[in-house]
Amino acid sequence: MGGRFEGSVALVAGGTGGLGRSVSLAFLEEGARVVVTYRSQTEWDALKSAAGANATRLEGHSVDVTDEAAVRQLVEKIFAKHGRLDALVNTVGGYAGGLKLWEMDTKVFEQMLALNLRSGYALSRAAVRAMLKQGRGAIVNVAAKAAFDHAAGAAAYAASKAAAVAMLDSLAADLRGSGVRVNTILPSIIDTEANRKAMPKADFSKWPKPQDIARVILFLCTDEARVIHGAAIPVYGDT
Ligand SMILES: NC(=O)c1ccc[n+]([C@@H]2O[C@H](COP(=O)([O-])OP(=O)(O)OC[C@H]3O[C@@H](n4cnc5c(N)ncnc54)[C@H](OP(=O)(O)O)[C@@H]3O)[C@@H](O)[C@H]2O)c1
Repeated sequence: MGGRFEGSVALVAGGTGGLGRSVSLAFLEEGARVVVTYRSQTEWDALKSAAGANATRLEGHSVDVTDEAAVRQLVEKIFAKHGRLDALVNTVGGYAGGLKLWEMDTKVFEQMLALNLRSGYALSRAAVRAMLKQGRGAIVNVAAKAAFDHAAGAAAYAASKAAAVAMLDSLAADLRGSGVRVNTILPSIIDTEANRKAMPKADFSKWPKPQDIARVILFLCTDEARVIHGAAIPVYGDT
């Protein structure tokens, strides 16, 4: 073993998902103890099996990360057990689109806000409090290119992602000088299984791989990225 995160503890929310899985596996490869939140038991079993021998440093909790109390309890549990939390990566999110603002169900609007904004709010609140006590930590929240590029039929999604960017930007200002760094990454279409199924005729080679995005996320969590704070970083390649 050996790696940049040996002895560290990383919380990957949505760590069994299309991008989250690559982030979880990359942290494990680099020596971290990884705590993931998941909802689907099947996805959790698949991640454990993909982790192979590294699964001894992998721990999963079935938690709804839009539930502030549940998230706070999870972070308390991590501290009670491991005594530290070095990195939080929030990969929880969802997409809904294709309908004009006046056509979509208001439930969809609420759902986009919950998945793409409230998740980061609940997770950041709990993690920041804990990280401030240890005087260090790194948070990466996953938003989307759509936070800045507002296409038709995606009002709720774009608004929720734009709000998530603004929230992290303001949080970065709150945290200036604290040793806790927060950044956002902005993917466009990622080469996930779900996207391949949804868009079978697309040219997959043009889509950034989750593993490549995971590398950027891990870098942001290292001390080498200590001068990056409050950034919103595009990760959609050169196509
Ligand atoms: N995929 C893309 O092309 C793309 C493009 C731009 C931005 N993004 C953003 O990148 C991030 C990751 O995307 P992805 O494609 O990896 O998504 P994904 O495969 O759907 O993964 C999201 C993960 O979050 C979990 N999750 C959803 N709601 C949750 C909740 N309330 N509490 C706890 N966990 C919950 C999901 O669990 P279940 O599977 O059990 O529901 C899943 O494991 C998201 O923020 C997404 O908006 C993705």
